[in-house]
Amino acid sequence: MGGMKKVYGLVGYPIAHSLSPAMHNAAFKAAGIEALYRLFDLDPGKPDDLANFCYEVDLNQMGGFSVTIPYKQAIMAYMDFYDPLAKTIGAVNTVKVKRDKKHDAPVLIGYNTDAGGALAALNEKTRLPGKRVLVMGAGGAARAVVYGLKAAGADVHVFNRTPEKAQALADEFDVNSIEYRIIKPEANFDVIINATSVGMTPNATESLLHADQIKKGSLVLDLVTDPMRTQLLKEAKQAGAETVAGARMLLFQAALQFKIWFGREAPFEAMEKALYAELEKR
Ligand code: ATR
Repeated sequence: MGGMKKVYGLVGYPIAHSLSPAMHNAAFKAAGIEALYRLFDLDPGKPDDLANFCYEVDLNQMGGFSVTIPYKQAIMAYMDFYDPLAKTIGAVNTVKVKRDKKHDAPVLIGYNTDAGGALAALNEKTRLPGKRVLVMGAGGAARAVVYGLKAAGADVHVFNRTPEKAQALADEFDVNSIEYRIIKPEANFDVIINATSVGMTPNATESLLHADQIKKGSLVLDLVTDPMRTQLLKEAKQAGAETVAGARMLLFQAALQFKIWFGREAPFEAMEKALYAELEKR
C-alpha cells in the first residue's frame, strides 16, 4: 500500500455544502503533502455505514478524518484510543489513523478541535477571562464550547430547548444553567454563542434571540456556517453587537486538525484564502 496517495475526509450527513475540502486540499497543496480530502456522506438511515466506514479505513487508504453532525458522539464507539480532551468533552470531531506495526492493523485515535477552534475565533475579538458568556444548546458542539470557555476562565451560562440537558451539562462542567430563551437586556451578556442548529438552511429565518435581547457592544458567535450570515448575526448587527461567523471557528479548528494529522503547524494563510474563495462562490 506504500506510495499510494493518502486519503483524508469528512464523515457526516448532509455534508454536500461543506467548506472543509477546499480548506484541507489547499493546506495539502501548500504543505507539499500528497493527499486528497473528500466527503463521506453517510446516510443515518443506514446504521451499518458508520461501522463499515471505520472498519474499512485501510481499504480507503485513510490517514485521518473529520467528523460532523450527526456522528460526533456515535463515532466514539469505534475509537481505539481517545485524546483526554475528547473524552472530557464526550465528542470526537477529528480522527487520526495510525498503524499498529506488530499486528499490521490500523489504530483509530479520537480528538476534539471544536473547543480550541471556538476559543481561537473568540480570542481574535475579545479577552475571555471573567466575561459573562451565554452558550445556547447542550449537544456535542455546545459541550466543547462550554468546556473551552470554562477552562479560559469565563463566567458561563447555558440554556437549551430540552432544559434537563442544559442542567446536566451545567452540573458536569460546573457552570450555570438558565431558562430557555428568556434573556432580558439586564442579563448583560458580553458574549453570546449559538451552538444549536437553529438558523441553518433551510430554516435560515430562525433565530433563538432577537436584537432587543442582545447588548450593544457585545460579541456574538454563531456556529452555523450555512448560511454564513445567519439571522442571529443579523439581529446582533442590529443591536450594535460585534459578530463572528461560524466559518472563522471552522478555519481555526481545521488548522488544529492539520496539526494532529501531520505533526506540524498548518499553512494557515493558504487555508484561510481557500475558505474565503469558496465562500465567495456561494
Ligand atoms: P451538535 O453535534 O451540532 O451539537 P447535537 O448534539 O444534535 O448536535 O445538538 C443539537 C443542539 O441543537 C441541541 O442543543 C438541540 O436542542 P435539544 O437538546 O433540545 O434537542 C438544539 N436544537 C436543534 N434543533 C433545535 C430547534 N429547532 N430549536 C431549539 N434547539 C434546537
